[in-house]
Amino acid sequence: MESTGIGRSVNQNPAASEKPRLPEFFSYVRGALQIDKTSARKLAETHGTPLYAYSGRQIERNAQTLKKLIEPLGAEPYYAVKANPRLGILKIVKNLSLGAEAVSLGEIKIALKAGFPPQKILFNGNGKTIGDVAGALKLGIKIFNFDSLDQLELLEAAGKKQKTKCRALIRIKPENDSATHPYLAVGKKGSKFGVTLPEISGAMNRLPSLKYVELAGIHTHFGSQILDAETFLEVARFSANVVKQLMALGVKLEIINLGGGFGIPYREEQQPLELETLRRGYGEIFRELRAALPAGCPVPSILLEPGRFLVANAGVILSRVVSIKKDAGRAFCVIDAGMTENLRPALYQARHRAIPVDWSKPTDIFQVVGPVCENADILGEFTLPPVKVGDLMAILDCGAYTSVMATTYNGRLRPAEVLVNGAKANLIRRRDRYEDLWQNET
Ligand code: LLP
Repeated sequence: MESTGIGRSVNQNPAASEKPRLPEFFSYVRGALQIDKTSARKLAETHGTPLYAYSGRQIERNAQTLKKLIEPLGAEPYYAVKANPRLGILKIVKNLSLGAEAVSLGEIKIALKAGFPPQKILFNGNGKTIGDVAGALKLGIKIFNFDSLDQLELLEAAGKKQKTKCRALIRIKPENDSATHPYLAVGKKGSKFGVTLPEISGAMNRLPSLKYVELAGIHTHFGSQILDAETFLEVARFSANVVKQLMALGVKLEIINLGGGFGIPYREEQQPLELETLRRGYGEIFRELRAALPAGCPVPSILLEPGRFLVANAGVILSRVVSIKKDAGRAFCVIDAGMTENLRPALYQARHRAIPVDWSKPTDIFQVVGPVCENADILGEFTLPPVKVGDLMAILDCGAYTSVMATTYNGRLRPAEVLVNGAKANLIRRRDRYEDLWQNET
């Protein structure tokens, strides 16, 4: 196909003509994008655009990949519900025997609705209220984290209210830095999450006098979208050291929760997280820890809280081009999905690749933008075929922190969501209706 001349021509860039790297269950078949064995075009025609479309088998594949890391450690994964809390997605995760990590009573209720047993749900969060904790205890949730002395007191008060004991993990701030967006680096000195090392002794002094809280272990979640294996290992070493020191003081710990954070390569040039390095490193750290434990101490079990890694590359947004225009030497391609459907580019300057649903050689540079009345509603600059109004595009890696962060700003209807399995696609969430925009108003 020839360039329309609207986009800046990039024929000189050979890499631009190569097909994009896609996850296993996404492919071009005779030039048309397929999700598993289902045509992306057909999905868009059946359900309209913008549309979130997920591959269930990709989620299963990601879980298998993660299991290779986890099994040698005997670690248990708890899926971070916040990444994608759709029931259709949660059911897949539950059927793979993962637990669920929740940060609100709302997420707990969704996880229960999807069928997770209460004993397989962890309740995290730095601002739980007494109502949240009492509500969770009533629903049979057993493990809670606390990340301040106030939250520890709150667990005790809620336990007393419900006359139910809870098991607690103390979330410790590793004070590390990590190569990710500043909003996603939560283990840093000065971050609002976790207790500092000096505060640990305050909690240890208080715990023996509490009637309803029993310390079960420690928790360190330090960030999200981390691609450097060494950072995970640093934090694991830190956690192992804290455990050693506490055990030496006679504190019994059964759980080391290392949190989530496993990143994915959103950009074409990014390398995936080296799971093999992680597996070897974790293996060494925890073998050493076991050897160093005083006699009679329980060997703590390891928990992980992956969110993004399981679902991000399993979802795309299918979107249609609604306008093409030019200004100041730039070509704009306006699509019908924007920051309301994917906030990540505007909030974290995240890169999500946009690709044509019907493949042809990319020749022109476009600024792909959404329809929302904000300058920040820009997906990014892409080399595309000479796209025209009505063409379909897929925005990649939209399975995590995307539909769940969608808003109705600008009176936009939240899109439908479909789950693909082989040649079958099920609607797992209907598109908002106009009346949904005012349904809660009185
Ligand atoms: N555990 C805790 C305590 C967390 O706070 C989080 C994520 C996770 C586990 C899961 O992290 P993951 O494996 O998905 O990286 N909205 C942002 C991500 C925020 C993550 C918040 N906490 C984004 O779109 O990138």
